[in-house]
Amino acid sequence: MAAKAKLIKAPRGVTDILPEEIPLWRWLEEAFRQELELAGFSEIRLPIFEATELFTRSIGQETDIVSKEMYSFSDAGGRSFSLRPEGTAPLVRAFLEHGFSRRGGVCRLYYLGPMFRAERPQAGRFRQFHQLGAEVLGAASPLVDVELLALVMRVLKGRLKVEGAFLEINSLGCRICRPGFRKALQDSLASVREELCPDCQRRVEMNPLRVLDCKREGCWAVLAKAPSGEEYMCANCREHFAFVREGLEVLEVDYHLNPRLVRGLDYYTRTAFEVVCPQLGAQNAVAGGGRYDDLVELLGGPATPAFGFAVGFERLAMVVRQELAPGIRRPEVFLVLLGEAARRKGLRLLDALRQAGLGCVLDYEGRSLKKQLQRAGKSGARWALILGEDELARGEVVCKDLVSGEQQRVGLDRVVEYLCALGKTCGFA
Ligand code: HAM
Repeated sequence: MAAKAKLIKAPRGVTDILPEEIPLWRWLEEAFRQELELAGFSEIRLPIFEATELFTRSIGQETDIVSKEMYSFSDAGGRSFSLRPEGTAPLVRAFLEHGFSRRGGVCRLYYLGPMFRAERPQAGRFRQFHQLGAEVLGAASPLVDVELLALVMRVLKGRLKVEGAFLEINSLGCRICRPGFRKALQDSLASVREELCPDCQRRVEMNPLRVLDCKREGCWAVLAKAPSGEEYMCANCREHFAFVREGLEVLEVDYHLNPRLVRGLDYYTRTAFEVVCPQLGAQNAVAGGGRYDDLVELLGGPATPAFGFAVGFERLAMVVRQELAPGIRRPEVFLVLLGEAARRKGLRLLDALRQAGLGCVLDYEGRSLKKQLQRAGKSGARWALILGEDELARGEVVCKDLVSGEQQRVGLDRVVEYLCALGKTCGFA
């Protein structure tokens, strides 16, 4: 006998979403889809892999994502591609490729699907994870920032009842004022370089703003004496941020100001934000995003201000109360067919039940009545319809209520109608 084949497991940090989890995931998706469509967004479906350069140019060469977390490969022609680590850059690529920029007006799009980052897996951090992202292109107004921040919080707190979620915001300045801050921060950090962790020592040269985001306490102490972004903000950025804060107050969206929030992607300008759920532990951001007014130009398009966000579904699924999600759909009917003739006739009944919107499953193996009824019980169906030779001869079917155990004979020609009427009283169909 051949040796038993070795089982193959999913790669580390990559998970299956099992059938029992799907209703929860659909519920989460639907909440965002509905709210976004009310706000004028349409869905776009983007490819899973793109030219590597798209990500290096937009996310930034020095970011962790690009420098160490991309799944990149070369095709037979030697071109480098990468599994998408996020959706904003692909969306901007599609926006330009399909001429959305020439259509004028504001473009509002959302997308959802898997993203890939070769991070060290831990609770809430996966190598394949799922995001729903939404982007508004072509509007510089801070109204957009307020509108989307409020939308995210409304879905999370209002619809999905996520407890303890709070919004953190910051302004990262723009291409006019950020270089001044960057230089001042770099100079200040360079003088105390040895006190920083090895990662931050490297960041001082390449990406000093990322030092602000370091989680190590030693670096925090050093940062206490560093200049703050606010001091360097230009008048326009100041005004924009003041409007955003005021708008959130008008809409009664609570927020924390976090001057150390810089985000792990380099394309942001002005407003940057994260929604944090402390119960998640170290990987506590369920959503993040902000304004990226220079990215479209950086990717070869016309100057186009933009704002967007993405929510991480694995993390979201961990913080919602599971019992609020709908349960898995069970069939309404289990069809018990006894004998060859019934197995043939039963096919028509099966079809008629499904056409009427009643979920119906059956046993394929021609087992005994007892065995089939046991399967019916396990299937979660509300009714068993029993069709044997005797019933066929009389043009009837036995309808057994699997909850109460009651049963009665119903004419084959009216059983669908009968179950639909009963279903209404039980809350289905
Ligand atoms: P991000 O902050 O990198 O932003 O990701 C957004 C969300 O995706 C995070 O808040 C988190 O919930 C989830 N996430 C990220 N990495 C992982 C991971 N390894 N495992 C599980 N969940 C993860 C972006 O990706 C930007 N594209 C958001 C954006 C859209 N900015 C503007 N528009």
